[in-house]
Amino acid sequence: MFQADRRDLACHLIRLDSPKELDHPRVVQVPDPDRQDMQFPDIWLRDNCRCKECYLPQTLSRLPQLWNNLDTSVRVLRQSVDVEQQVLYIEWSDGHASQYPYNWLRERDFSAANRQRYLSEFYRPEQKLWSGQNFEEVRRVFYFQELITSDSALLQWLQHLAVYGVALVKEAPLEMDVLRRLSNRVGFMRRTTYGEEFSVRAQPGASNYAYLAAPLPLHTDMPYFEYLPGVTLLHTLEQSASPGGVNLLADAFYVAEMMRERHPNQFRALCQTPVDWADIGSDGDLQFHNIWQAPVINLDAEGRCVRINHSIPQRDSHFSVPMEQVRPWYEAMATFVGLAQEHSCRFKTTPGDVLTFDNLRLVHGRTGYDDTDRNVRHILGAFVDWDIVYSRLRVLRNATAPGAP
Ligand code: OGA
Ligand code: ZN
Ligand code: ZN
Repeated sequence: MFQADRRDLACHLIRLDSPKELDHPRVVQVPDPDRQDMQFPDIWLRDNCRCKECYLPQTLSRLPQLWNNLDTSVRVLRQSVDVEQQVLYIEWSDGHASQYPYNWLRERDFSAANRQRYLSEFYRPEQKLWSGQNFEEVRRVFYFQELITSDSALLQWLQHLAVYGVALVKEAPLEMDVLRRLSNRVGFMRRTTYGEEFSVRAQPGASNYAYLAAPLPLHTDMPYFEYLPGVTLLHTLEQSASPGGVNLLADAFYVAEMMRERHPNQFRALCQTPVDWADIGSDGDLQFHNIWQAPVINLDAEGRCVRINHSIPQRDSHFSVPMEQVRPWYEAMATFVGLAQEHSCRFKTTPGDVLTFDNLRLVHGRTGYDDTDRNVRHILGAFVDWDIVYSRLRVLRNATAPGAP
């Protein structure tokens, strides 16, 4: 429809027909030598004009003037391309003129394949879900010193964490600042009510369940926060010589997908029943009363899992839902907990290990252990948020292979 007029090729400037009269959406088709034509909605092109009136290069951002009185009926009057310079020119019905470089257009082509490429290669890597029975294929080791000194090692660690939700860092020094140094390589730590770093060890009279030597069943950290920390880092400083203190880990997105397929009604109950999560107490001088109401399985607008909330000790005794929703939720939750156990893996970290995992996706726990004066277990914990991790990942990737913006 918008084929270049071959007679104009000699002068590089090719006049194209007006956009297809489809009204909604009106599509501008842009020929690209050696590839499929690119496609763009006309109003999107007008909104994303790159001229000085419409765009501020120093902040890489759109200027807002157009939106003071946006003419949604704006249309293309004339369209042409300079094949040699690789530029698209458009004259608009509102009197404006725009030009767009081809390399900028190619990154933003609306074809399904290009949108998919952008989402999985640049926005966020595609997650690969796993059962604990296949943990050996997922388990990957990174070395602390390499992460501190090499950007390419750092990129691989964060990429692995994004795709599989878990990565093990080894050979970290037995020092208190390991998590800070690692977090600072990514960006910065996420502070919570337990501080920037917290010590997990058996403490008599502990006010947090994790600070006992008892078994800690599979859970996510801090489900009682609206903005819960995205990535958990656990540094083993001292490990109990008793048979206990073994780490448990399961991919709860994998479990959720199993439920979606095999137990659709129970899956729906876990997605739709809001649950009250709570952490009430104090840490040091800070007194807190954190509560948040949200389902166990949280989906995005397209129905994909984006967050799991689960912690038996931190589920409130308040359950603010109509009575008839209660029993179906318990039945669904019993299935979820059983499947998570069945598909969990177990291993025992040793001093110098830093276990890193996606706290929105994985559930983790530990078996109980003996804690005596001569047999101590001491884990340091900290968090980094996913926004910070993904940002670092894109910056590192752009440094080697420039892509968007
Ligand atoms: C926690 C926790 C794990 C461990 O404190 O939330 O998950 O191995 N600890 O003690
Ligand atoms: Zn403009
Ligand atoms: Zn935990």
